[in-house]
Amino acid sequence: MASHSGPVTVAVVGAGQRSKAYTQYAVDHPERMKVVAVADPNPVHRRIISEKHDIAADMQFESYEDLARRAPVAEAVINATRDQLHHKSALPLLAAGYHMLLEKPIAHTEAEVRGIIGAAKQHGRKVVVGHVLRFAPFYAKIKQLILDGRIGGIVSMNTLEAVSYHHMATGYVRDRWNRRDKNSPMLLAKCCHDLDVVGWLMSGVPARRVSSFGSLKQFRAENAPAGSGTRCVVDCRIERECAYSARRLYVEKSRWRGYVFQPLQGRGEVTDAMRLEHLRESPYGRCVWRCDNDVVDHQSVLVEFANGATATHDMFCATARPTRQIHVIGTRGEIQGDMEDGVIRLRHPDLRPTTDDCTEEVISVNEAVGGDGAGHGGGDVRLIADFVKVIRGEPPSISTTRIEDSLTGHLIAFAADTAMLEGRVVEIARE
Ligand SMILES: NC(=O)c1ccc[n+]([C@@H]2O[C@H](COP(=O)([O-])OP(=O)(O)OC[C@H]3O[C@@H](n4cnc5c(N)ncnc54)[C@H](O)[C@@H]3O)[C@@H](O)[C@H]2O)c1
Repeated sequence: MASHSGPVTVAVVGAGQRSKAYTQYAVDHPERMKVVAVADPNPVHRRIISEKHDIAADMQFESYEDLARRAPVAEAVINATRDQLHHKSALPLLAAGYHMLLEKPIAHTEAEVRGIIGAAKQHGRKVVVGHVLRFAPFYAKIKQLILDGRIGGIVSMNTLEAVSYHHMATGYVRDRWNRRDKNSPMLLAKCCHDLDVVGWLMSGVPARRVSSFGSLKQFRAENAPAGSGTRCVVDCRIERECAYSARRLYVEKSRWRGYVFQPLQGRGEVTDAMRLEHLRESPYGRCVWRCDNDVVDHQSVLVEFANGATATHDMFCATARPTRQIHVIGTRGEIQGDMEDGVIRLRHPDLRPTTDDCTEEVISVNEAVGGDGAGHGGGDVRLIADFVKVIRGEPPSISTTRIEDSLTGHLIAFAADTAMLEGRVVEIARE
């Protein structure tokens, strides 16, 4: 079994928002993981992570290419570059000998995903994908109930992600993932987690046919209300009554500051005056009705699996309340839950001679499995802890997401994108 001594050594590749979340584990558990190197062209991002982890000057690299060119300096990399760089950076880093925690989405096409899987096999490296939802106690509990046979075999399921109005505006309208050519289609960027959960719960049954509808309906110039301008703090006459006011969301309510004010990092103390000034020029200060966004703002997906089971996924955007919900129907019972509520309901037909038709066990996830509500329902910290176990050769959890296991969800996302764009049912080829 485990023969690893000392902490697992990692190099951070892409020292942005996600790396911050994962590398906190090294601070909290120095005996389990140590950050020894960083590669990032942004000098401020490189410096912040270097100072936090006391990284030697000769272990600070300007790009993944520089890191991959030399003999390995760590056992593993945390590859948290932006979506477009995943495939490009993963191949040389795997060839250089690193195990990898690879952020989602794995890559943009089936060929690229299979290319990374092939490279991992060829070089004998372990790749774990940043599918954090599997690790959230809410979903881990549902998986365990299914593994324990509590609802029998899966017949059908529905998953739903409701992306809040402020999350939508920030990440998918104003910037970050707002364009297909800059990052990913919205379903792949936002819901590859949910589709991964669907594939994971189906325990290896391949998806066969996919259809999907969706569009960019709401965040378009023709829907701009009278009095709106081009920028909230520059020329908008209805800024104080608009739900998407950049001033209210990012300055007054402190939402999404890691994204919006990332360029102000490294400039010492940031004041609200600096933030407001930044919003005059930043993409995040733009009117949500007049951006360069082209990703959808709602999409529904219907999947048929090889064994006849079906699944639907709905991506609802600009909702007042964010949440994820799931309803799984089995041959003997059903599971229904809402992640934000932290409540799972396990139901069976009531066989007793009473007037009730069903029994219901209410499982509070926070009490039952120690959910803590931290990043992605507690998934972030559990994923990095599990990655370290995988590298150390310790028994992983039921959530461990080897790259091969993550394929089904990605294949569904690619097929759904084609199905939506081409208005047809897409067959997923057999192996
Ligand atoms: N698992 C999740 O739930 C989750 C959540 C959000 C984002 N993500 C994914 O994480 C990834 C990173 O997102 P982020 O928000 O941290 O982005 P970010 O922009 O904050 O960080 C990316 C970093 O990569 C660096 N970089 C650019 N070129 C590079 C190169 N050649 N070599 C090394 N580094 C380079 C950038 O300078 C930047 O610091 C994305 O793929 C995103 O989709 C995952």
